Amino acid sequence: MPDVTVTTLQSLKQSGEKIAMLTCYDATFAQTVCQAGIEVLLVGDSLGMVLQGHDSTLPVNVTDMAYHTACVKRGNQGALILVDLPFMAYATIEQTLQNCAVLMQAGAHMVKLEGAAWLAEPIRLLAERGVPVCAHLGLTPQAVNILGGYKVQGRHEAQARQMRADAMALEQAGAAMLLLECVPSDLATEISQAVKIPVIGIGAGSGTDGQVLVLHDMLGLSLSGRTPKFVKNFMAGQSSIQNALSAYVKAVKDGSFPAIEHGFSA
Ligand code: KIV
Repeated sequence: MPDVTVTTLQSLKQSGEKIAMLTCYDATFAQTVCQAGIEVLLVGDSLGMVLQGHDSTLPVNVTDMAYHTACVKRGNQGALILVDLPFMAYATIEQTLQNCAVLMQAGAHMVKLEGAAWLAEPIRLLAERGVPVCAHLGLTPQAVNILGGYKVQGRHEAQARQMRADAMALEQAGAAMLLLECVPSDLATEISQAVKIPVIGIGAGSGTDGQVLVLHDMLGLSLSGRTPKFVKNFMAGQSSIQNALSAYVKAVKDGSFPAIEHGFSA
């Protein structure tokens, strides 16, 4: 059992203390990131881009995710380990249950699924079977080919209305947490206030209950040379990775990250 559980995250939301999350893919970083005070380690399918060098997350499979989850588990020091179900690993209910079993047995404490209200049924089934789920709305990178690129979602009123309704439906279905990616700051704040579950943002402004960044991005490392607007390089001005990680946790907790310039307007 980790020190940080779904109950801890719920209490942090209720007390107003911001939740600090980072992606993590290996044992050494798991230990280092935990020592900085991170509550949630996200074994994200972003590993397809930052570790494997692909141009999207689509080539990542369950075997990759299970391998990196097991690596993170060995270095973890009490954080909650959240793991992405990769592209097409939850296309059917049977696949969803089987693949979640693989990831939970590898060390996940919660799984993350990208998508809207169509995920209500799988979330309900997983919760009934003891698997906490983080839903992921807004820019869902596994759907990049439908979205036509990595673009801000929810800018138009109809889209925003749909996202609010999806968030409520996923909470109702039993989601334990919600992640909002690249969503206008005002909309993300509104959704965070409307639901009781913790809401974590990336490119969603400062009004969510917590923040996540891709580890490589916040350490100033980039394969493509392009840095998204919502990223801050926490290595700048620091003499060690440990100091950069601590600076990130402090900035999330005191609300100085994200600043207005890291967010999007409608
Ligand atoms: O895979 C990932 O790293 C993610 C974050 C971008 C939130 O889902």
